[in-house]
Amino acid sequence: MKTLLIVYHTGGVKTAKMAEAVERGARNALKEAEAETEVQVIVKRAAQAGPEDVLAADALILGTPENFGYMSGMMKDFLERVFYPCEGKVEGRPWALFVGAGQDGSGARNSVERIVLGLRLRKVHEAIIGLKELTPEVIAQCEELGATFAAGLAIGAL
Ligand SMILES: Cc1cc2nc3c(=O)[nH]c(=O)nc-3n(C[C@H](O)[C@H](O)[C@H](O)COP(=O)(O)O)c2cc1C
Repeated sequence: MKTLLIVYHTGGVKTAKMAEAVERGARNALKEAEAETEVQVIVKRAAQAGPEDVLAADALILGTPENFGYMSGMMKDFLERVFYPCEGKVEGRPWALFVGAGQDGSGARNSVERIVLGLRLRKVHEAIIGLKELTPEVIAQCEELGATFAAGLAIGAL
């Protein structure tokens, strides 16, 4: 069985809603393809996730708010804890990012991408950035992201 791991932090609502949409998209895609026994979807808050989760995952989707022009402190804590235990052991695995932000989001995106570059994961989707009020379009993009990852893992196309 393949594993899709979704790790996110939220200080309030927005990034949580985006994470829910990613998970929903993944689960719906697996249901439609009758592939629920082929891919498991694990969702963890950044504070609860660690290197063992990342090492066991075939694909990783990260989610963070943008705080002070950077990823949230809890996402940085997560990446600090997983970086060295995972370095050299997860190369080439697909990953993607979603960001809940107020006005910008690029600081959070750039800071996560810079660190993940060192893990040599393979970015298979541009970061989704939800600005201001979450729109149905952004929610749909998040659902599509989850579906793409889940279906891709199920058919071995990621
Ligand atoms: C301490 C703090 C710092 C923030 N800094 C930024 C920022 O630098 N750029 C930005 O676009 N939004 C910033 N915001 C707005 C948040 O990114 C935005 O409210 C986001 O939706 C929070 O996601 P959440 O509800 O999942 O916590 C900040 C919010 C807080 C609380």
